[in-house]
Amino acid sequence: MQYNKVTQSQINQFKTIIGEPFVIINKIDLEQYSHDYTEDLKYFPEVVLKPRTTNEISSILKICNENRIPVTPRGAGTGLSGGALPIFGGVVISMERFNEIIEIDERNFQATVEPGVVNEVFQNAVKEKNLFYPPDPASKGSCFLGGNLAHSSGGPRALKYGTTRDYVLNIEVVLPTGEIMWTGANTLKYSTGYNLTHLMIGSEGTLAIITKIVFKLIPYPQQNLLLLAPFSSAEKACEAVNGIFKAGFTPSACEFMEPKGLKLSANMLNIHFEIAENIEAYLLIEVDGNDLDLMMKNCEKISEVLYAFECLDVLFADSAEQKEYFWKLRRAIGEAVKTRSVYKEEDTVVPRAELPILFKGVRAIANKYGFKTVCYGHAGDGNLHVNILKDKLSDEEWNSKINDGITEIFQLCKQLKGTISGEHGIGLVQKPFMHIVMPEFQLEIMRKIKTVFDPNGILNPGKIF
Ligand code: LAC
Ligand code: ZN
Repeated sequence: MQYNKVTQSQINQFKTIIGEPFVIINKIDLEQYSHDYTEDLKYFPEVVLKPRTTNEISSILKICNENRIPVTPRGAGTGLSGGALPIFGGVVISMERFNEIIEIDERNFQATVEPGVVNEVFQNAVKEKNLFYPPDPASKGSCFLGGNLAHSSGGPRALKYGTTRDYVLNIEVVLPTGEIMWTGANTLKYSTGYNLTHLMIGSEGTLAIITKIVFKLIPYPQQNLLLLAPFSSAEKACEAVNGIFKAGFTPSACEFMEPKGLKLSANMLNIHFEIAENIEAYLLIEVDGNDLDLMMKNCEKISEVLYAFECLDVLFADSAEQKEYFWKLRRAIGEAVKTRSVYKEEDTVVPRAELPILFKGVRAIANKYGFKTVCYGHAGDGNLHVNILKDKLSDEEWNSKINDGITEIFQLCKQLKGTISGEHGIGLVQKPFMHIVMPEFQLEIMRKIKTVFDPNGILNPGKIF
């Protein structure tokens, strides 16, 4: 695809549409839009636009479409697959001013929001009405709901409650050609032709720009209990995960953490966390509900399961502060690894019972290539984040080995009937590995779908395939 540069006359048009203060062309101000959380990648846009209304976005897209200018939609920029990187320059449309919770409809257990609302702000707003919006990515304090839709983000509670996808009823979008449409209906059921709502979710800003979202909500579970379970064998910890489900329990979260991840996290947060020498892994297990007695009994039974898998002393968090302390440590691991070394972050996911084989395989592949790794993630979902550190490897060694190492890990995922991303998306950095999990004709179907929505290929070009 051949793209054009943004001209001065188009910049003037953008200023007329959204107002001069919201058209950013100064290199210093553009910097923060040149990267997201993905490695240390940087691509400068030519201009950043901060529209406020759906109609403004429609007018902007019409201009870009007619003039073949690439447009990269952007949420909070917390993505880990490079989805928000403007790799062909052009226009970045930042959704930061779309930050209104339009309505919380308590009668229907629904909420209509704009895509620039921060995940946690939304969670807290519905909680005040005793309602629950469960998807809780690690970046919940800063990520936007629109970005969550772009990747169908998960987070720890996806285990019991599902990912973002399971809470979206309807979306208002602007197509690259400027048309505005609602993809579905505000209903819990939808059997009215192709489900374009679900096509948009996970499309990483390649099909349309999301301007409003209608979410489904559920009653807020009043209680939660949290256990931290240390294991001297990481493989046993992985095996214990399925054991919990086989014993008939569905925790609201079941997270796997290697101590090296926790150490980095504690260092970064500057808080103390004692780790005994012999520990290879932790499971952080949350149980929620409304009947505290029943939950206590279930936690005791879960502990018995854990002990059967050679768990050491299970620690019950005994206060809200201690719970938050463990969650804080857990959520910071990804960011903390980044402070340690050049790295690659993989988002492997397999059927839950295959998690021990995946973990063992990752360890063997890392040994073969001489990589240090930090593994953590949503064990209950079979979703293991594998961070591969460059550490002391020379640039030459790293560059010559890293793709082969990742390829082997992904081949293992495929073999186990899993895939290469559970919640971070494909974006730019996982694109070269898509062929491992799907044949060329399947990628071609995706390309053709894109063309239907985006005939000139202007929207988030160079992503996914
Ligand atoms: C997490 C992010 C990296 O689980 O997905 O911490
Ligand atoms: Zn995660």
